[in-house]
Amino acid sequence: LSPEEFRKFAHEAVDWMADYLAHADRYPVLPGIKPGDLIDALPRCGPEHGEPMSVILEDFRSKIVPAATHWNHPGFMAYFATSASGPGILGEMLAATLNMNGMLWKTSPAVVELEQVTLDWLRRWMGLPDNLFGIIFDTASTSSMHAIAAAREMAAPEVRTEGDGAGLVLYTSEQAHSSIEKGAIAIGIGQKNVRKIPVDAEFRMRPEALSAEVDQDRASGLRPFCVVATVGTTSTTSIDPVAAIAEIAEHYGLWLHVDAAYAGVAAIAPEFQHILKGCDRADSLVTNPHKWLFTPVDVSALYTRRPEILRRAFSLVPEYLRTADHPRALNYMDYGVPLGRRFRALKLWFVLRYYGREGIAEIIRAHIGWAQELARQIDNDDRFERMAPTPFSTVCFRRKGSDEDNRALLDRVNASGEVYLSHTILHGKYCLRLAIGNMGTTREHVQRAWKLVTAGDR
Ligand SMILES: Cc1ncc(COP(=O)(O)O)c(C=O)c1O
Repeated sequence: LSPEEFRKFAHEAVDWMADYLAHADRYPVLPGIKPGDLIDALPRCGPEHGEPMSVILEDFRSKIVPAATHWNHPGFMAYFATSASGPGILGEMLAATLNMNGMLWKTSPAVVELEQVTLDWLRRWMGLPDNLFGIIFDTASTSSMHAIAAAREMAAPEVRTEGDGAGLVLYTSEQAHSSIEKGAIAIGIGQKNVRKIPVDAEFRMRPEALSAEVDQDRASGLRPFCVVATVGTTSTTSIDPVAAIAEIAEHYGLWLHVDAAYAGVAAIAPEFQHILKGCDRADSLVTNPHKWLFTPVDVSALYTRRPEILRRAFSLVPEYLRTADHPRALNYMDYGVPLGRRFRALKLWFVLRYYGREGIAEIIRAHIGWAQELARQIDNDDRFERMAPTPFSTVCFRRKGSDEDNRALLDRVNASGEVYLSHTILHGKYCLRLAIGNMGTTREHVQRAWKLVTAGDR
């Protein structure tokens, strides 16, 4: 692409992007296609000879976009709703343009130092201690796997060379995200050595059940090494009692990792800083700017107060990657599996600067407020029941009736194309789950979703 052609098509692409962001609500949130439709619409082989950019862009519009689920749609309230804000998208475009690989300080000081700066800003805004080291990974799943590997390094350093972690046991709640168990699988802990600690009526890990399990495992000659607490569990956004869990972790010498992938950033609003109570005693914590911090996927921030252990778990430097030591030159490749590292900090820096702490806090506050309003409406409607407390912006509820009724209700609401809600199972019952997290979502969108849920009932 010549510079002139690049400029022309970039302008065309940006025009499309600006229109899309302004009118994402004109699309159905979920695409009306069947599995395989897109594959069938595309050639089976790549082109032998290059194609004009105009044709490629046209195919993007006519073939790819109709197969898209619109996460940027203001009616997207499934899973944890997210949004790619304008500043975040601009950062992503510029990062792709520079195309730096920040494996070492030398391969890109900008990548490495901006990662340090942005993660430090975020840490301060969340009220986390100042002795934390931050590193960006693609997802919370990857971040947590690294935390669990560091925990293993602390408890059983011989595993790095010997490869036998037999007897190591990890604890998390039965409401924890599947990524915790996957992390344990990935580093060879074994699913049978992951204990799912029961929760209380509000879906929070029961600390006394944790101590009892640890005692029992120790008595059986096993090696408890790590406990993972969650601030904002995936189904209900419950908050584990981190301070009580930290007490137990300290008593037994366990690494405490906190999964705050979704909810951690709520602490940017000072009145929600209490949600991280006890996290100053954690060995590591993950939060995802690509969830509720308006930064395009992917960017996950892992913090640890024991970077030397994370480094010990992963550092392996072949000769061709050796560079001169300098006390301020950080080589992020030493702290994890990936060698190559994208410039993810740039989009986060754009977002943090453009909105500022107070701007971000205001949006998060509004999302939580609309969720609380909806929770009250559900509580006041005797056809429905709320299935969990609503500490953040996610509401779990069901229509009183059978699971089939609720499945049909969810299908009907989602078929509207106006909103997309997801589901979960709580107390053995099928529930609807509405999560507010998209910055285009307004109170009216939430109320519209409630109207669609209740439509046909009166
Ligand atoms: C609490 C929690 N942890 C981890 C994850 C995994 O996030 P990621 O997709 O970044 O791996 C999720 C995803 O929703 C989550 O809710």
